[in-house]
Amino acid sequence: MIDALSKAVFGTLAGSATLKRVASRYGMRGQGGFARRFVAGETIDEAIGAARAVEAQGLAQTLDLLGESVASEAEARAAAEAYLAMMPRIADAGVGRNISIKLTQLGLDLSADLAGAHLRRILARAGELGFFVRIDMENSPYIEATLALFESVWREGTTNVGVVLQSALKRSKDDLERVLALGARVRLVKGAYKEPAAVAYQSKAEVDDAYVRLMERLLRAGHFPAIATHDPDMIAAARRLATEAGVPQGAYEFQMLYGVRRDLQQSLRAEGFGMRVYIPYGREWFPYFMRRLGERPANVGFVLKSLLRER
Ligand code: FDA
Repeated sequence: MIDALSKAVFGTLAGSATLKRVASRYGMRGQGGFARRFVAGETIDEAIGAARAVEAQGLAQTLDLLGESVASEAEARAAAEAYLAMMPRIADAGVGRNISIKLTQLGLDLSADLAGAHLRRILARAGELGFFVRIDMENSPYIEATLALFESVWREGTTNVGVVLQSALKRSKDDLERVLALGARVRLVKGAYKEPAAVAYQSKAEVDDAYVRLMERLLRAGHFPAIATHDPDMIAAARRLATEAGVPQGAYEFQMLYGVRRDLQQSLRAEGFGMRVYIPYGREWFPYFMRRLGERPANVGFVLKSLLRER
């Protein structure tokens, strides 16, 4: 219940314009800005710097230009243009070609056709430059539209793209079969959003049980699945299930968020597992940052400490 409660509290705070104003003033200020723990910076140069640092430790990365829930066609177009401009920069920098993207950033709230048109342009450019594109999964009202769009681009022959499923959602069992039928890649997460009981499990135990069930199916039948979690119990279960099913280390990868459980990222890599770090950057970092606090309210202490240092 605490999990559901803190997600709800931080979800509400994420909508506060005043808090956003205050946080935006201090969060990225200087190298000690408190949001830098989870967000690589506001510019592509900072993101590429973080990607280089991550890769220097033997880890892979995916870059995410933060942004979501855009309310105008102009903002959706600007986000698509920003992704189109970002890919050649990443390619020129010589770091791994893997990006993550949200459909509401491309205008899904305005229309699926609009988001679809932007997505197709991004995927075409990604194909030319050898990028893999992961479509992040947002909250439950967007799932059907996201999967439908994903299925259409896949059926059009675009296969440098994968999707995300959330174990908290009761529908994910069926959604997993839908994606497996295509032969597409899945990143499995627990789910970052506060969701109603009608559609989502509310307790950590239920979300974890569902995670293990989905993971087992994914490890046995999936296509290079990404096990995206910082939870040592889920990681232990993944390792056990993979061994039981005879799935070799190189047939799946772990993924974790930038700034979270860096110790575990390193130790799994040292054991020979694939580890990809999700590196977010950009000016629209506030909602992402608030979701990270909601997952682990203890992080608020470190934010307060760095704010006090600012005074
Ligand atoms: P859980 O929240 O149960 O935490 C387990 C342990 O991990 C904690 O005890 C703590 O040690 C550590 N931990 C977790 N979060 C932490 C934090 N913020 N700070 C410090 N320690 C922390 N969600 C979504 O809805 N759609 C998506 O597309 C994605 N994409 C995505 C990509 C990648 C690469 C990752 C790793 C995660 C996502 N997520 C996501 C987020 C995901 O749904 C989930 O909210 C977080 O990963 C936290 O859940 P855990 O599985 O880590 O377990």
